[in-house]
Amino acid sequence: MTKRDVIVACDFKNKEDTMAFLDNFKEEKPFVKIGMELFYGEGPDIVKAIKDRGHNIFLDLKLHDIPNTVNKAMRNLARLGVDMTNVHAAGTIDMMRAALEGLAEGADSERALLIAVTQLTSTSQERMQRELLINASIEDTVAHYARNTKEAGLDGVVCSPLEAAIVKNACGKDFITVTPGIRYPDGNMGDQSRVTTPAKAREAGTEFIVVGRPITQAPDPVAAYRRVVKDFLG
Ligand code: C5P
Repeated sequence: MTKRDVIVACDFKNKEDTMAFLDNFKEEKPFVKIGMELFYGEGPDIVKAIKDRGHNIFLDLKLHDIPNTVNKAMRNLARLGVDMTNVHAAGTIDMMRAALEGLAEGADSERALLIAVTQLTSTSQERMQRELLINASIEDTVAHYARNTKEAGLDGVVCSPLEAAIVKNACGKDFITVTPGIRYPDGNMGDQSRVTTPAKAREAGTEFIVVGRPITQAPDPVAAYRRVVKDFLG
C-alpha cells in the first residue's frame, strides 16, 4: 500500500450498485472506502468481496465504546483484511490504544492503518460548546484530539483539508491526515461546504484524500478518477 492515495467513497446503497460501479475500472484498482450504510446493509462479506477484486479497503465505522469492546471489535475487523479503519478520538487515549492492540493482534500480516476522527465536520463550534461543554475553539479541539491520537500510537486523523496544516503543526509531518471535502470549482458541491481541490490538498501535505460523488456520480467515473489521481499524486 502506498503512503499517499486517492480513496473512493463507495456510498452506494447495496452490493449490486457498488459492484456495478467498480466494474467500470478495468486497469486501475482504486482504494475503496466502505461506510456504515453498505457495511450494515450487506455485512462483513462486502469487505471480502471487494478485497478479492484487488482493492485496498478503508472501513469507515468510527468505533467509540469502552476499550475492551473496541479491542475485540478491532480484532474481528483485522481478520477481514482491511487496510485502514478508524475510531473516535473522543473515546479516550486508553480506548485508542486498545483499538490499536486489537487491530495488531487480529491481523494475519501487516497491521491496518488506524486513524481517529477528531471533531466531525457536521459539529459546529457553537453546538460543541453548548451541548458537549467543550469550551475551546474547533481548531484547538482538533489539534488537542490529534495530539491524543498520536500519544495513543495511532497513524493519523481524519480532518478537513483546511485543518491539515493545524494537525501537521501539532503532530509533525509524518502524522497522516485523511481528508474528505474534495471538490473542483466546476463541480457540484453537494452538502459539503468547506472544500478544496485535489491539487490544494496535495500542497497542504495530506496523504489520503477521500472523494465520493465527484467520482461516483460523474458521467465517466474512470476519467473523473484519473483526473483526481493526476492532480493529487502529480
Ligand atoms: O461525496 P463526497 O466526496 O462528499 O464524499 C465524502 C465522503 O467522506 C463521504 O463518505 C462522507 O461520509 C465522508 N466524510 C465527510 N466529512 C467528514 C467525514 C467523512 O465528507 N468530516
